[in-house]
Amino acid sequence: MSGDSFSKVGVVGLGTMGAGIAEVLARGGLPVVGVEIDEAALERGRGHLEKSTGRAVKRGRLTADAQRGILDRVELSTDFAALGECDLVIEAVPERLDLKRAVFAELDRVCRADAVLATNTSSLSVTDIAVATGRPTKIVGVHFFNPAPVMKLVEVIGTVLTEDGAVDRVAALVKGLGKTPVVIGDRAGFVANRLLFGYLNQAAGMLESGHATRDDIDTAMTAGGGLPMGPFTLMDLIGLDTCLEVLEAIHAETRDRRHAPAPVLRELVTAGLLGRKTGRGFYDHAAPAAEAAGRDAPARPVVAVVGEGAVPAALGEVVRDGLGDADLIIALGEGSLADAAAAAKPGAVLATTGPVVAAAVASGRPADVVGFHLPEADGAFVEIAASVVTGEGVADRAAELAAGLGLTPVRCRDRAGHIVDALRFPYLNDAAAMLDAGYADADSIDAAMTLGCGYPTGPIADLDRLGADRAVAALHALYAETREPAYAPAPLLEEHRTAGRTLR
Ligand SMILES: NC(=O)c1ccc[n+]([C@@H]2O[C@H](COP(=O)([O-])OP(=O)(O)OC[C@H]3O[C@@H](n4cnc5c(N)ncnc54)[C@H](O)[C@@H]3O)[C@@H](O)[C@H]2O)c1
Repeated sequence: MSGDSFSKVGVVGLGTMGAGIAEVLARGGLPVVGVEIDEAALERGRGHLEKSTGRAVKRGRLTADAQRGILDRVELSTDFAALGECDLVIEAVPERLDLKRAVFAELDRVCRADAVLATNTSSLSVTDIAVATGRPTKIVGVHFFNPAPVMKLVEVIGTVLTEDGAVDRVAALVKGLGKTPVVIGDRAGFVANRLLFGYLNQAAGMLESGHATRDDIDTAMTAGGGLPMGPFTLMDLIGLDTCLEVLEAIHAETRDRRHAPAPVLRELVTAGLLGRKTGRGFYDHAAPAAEAAGRDAPARPVVAVVGEGAVPAALGEVVRDGLGDADLIIALGEGSLADAAAAAKPGAVLATTGPVVAAAVASGRPADVVGFHLPEADGAFVEIAASVVTGEGVADRAAELAAGLGLTPVRCRDRAGHIVDALRFPYLNDAAAMLDAGYADADSIDAAMTLGCGYPTGPIADLDRLGADRAVAALHALYAETREPAYAPAPLLEEHRTAGRTLR
């Protein structure tokens, strides 16, 4: 059904990815030849295939007959010569250029002259692999995501050498297999990893600099950023060695210091703490899950607001007088805390939605002042920012009070963008720059992040939802603070802001 232009497909290396890719191809009705390095590895590959399809049968997603059909369609061998009749071969051996080049040299020798040869590399240059073969025009990248039978995204990569039609044929095959192909050029990290890893590495740097804790950053990106998991949970799942390897490859191409792996990542990898697969990475996965705190729900505090501006819905009922009774007094916008500070009872927390230090100093009670930032005014998430003058324990007390209001609080230092905006706008800017460069179109960029990384919405859709105005303002603030060149808004974003238009 899916093999209109390919009639027999080879897969070299039947590990995590290769076995999954062989399964996808065989499920699509194609005859497959799977090649491994030796008999033991071949047996492991067979085991992967049997286990994965067996699971589908158990879950009622596949009949036993269909499973047999799939397994029968996969011929297994340790001899590369078995690939002689294939018109497409997909390589999925470990991520080492020397190894991949050796495999492609062998494929070049045994495969038909018109066969297309593809690599499933995540981070190596497809061009580097292509130039070492005698048929560089027929080399493409075909980047499946793990687990291949489940993940819908496949990035299809053509190099400057790839002949017309080869990429389209592979993309058509991928589509016929029920996946979504995204066609792009040969840039380190392609679309999904290039955007994802800049963000993950920035989160690791944030932890390293003491800006916020691991748990607060993870909570911020789930409760505040709307992601299915936080960056440290995700890095542990991917494997910290893989994270390091992908970042190194991207950095080697971009020379962008944002892609230089955060030292903490290298430290964990050197220590053998690779994430879930070794039981420990950023998290200790072997430790029993923390007992759900058996505490009573915190009492609802009395909240007062001062200053002008709309009261965020999440704050519920607030008082505008009777400041002396309030547990938490929030100054909206540029509102001054000075009068409130004079009237507030001892132990009350003073908060500002604006810059913290200036408000703290002007209040006369600087130690009691924190920042109170609701990145989504209608959301139930708040960032509590402590400055150099905030007293010890005051941010924790503010977080308790926020929890009493039904908000999910996280703590961080008083820096531009706090956590959520500081992490999401550079990522969104990278996506806008990618679009600006014509490297990929808006649909491809959004598909890469939703289908490849499990994001609920893609970055271009996010930018249109949040608005170019807000993105540019947030990026200017980040740039002003860090002078990081990559935080300068992509010209395309500036243009859309000025024109008052969305990107799509
Ligand atoms: N694991 C992932 O999440 C993931 C996702 C996308 C892409 N990738 C890429 O896919 C490729 C494979 O990764 P993996 O995780 O499946 O690795 P893996 O280690 O699970 O599997 C590699 C397999 O290749 C076999 N092999 C090694 N040398 C060989 C040779 N000369 N000939 C034939 N077979 C050989 C090994 O025996 C092993 O079974 C890498 O390029 C990786 O970057 C991995």
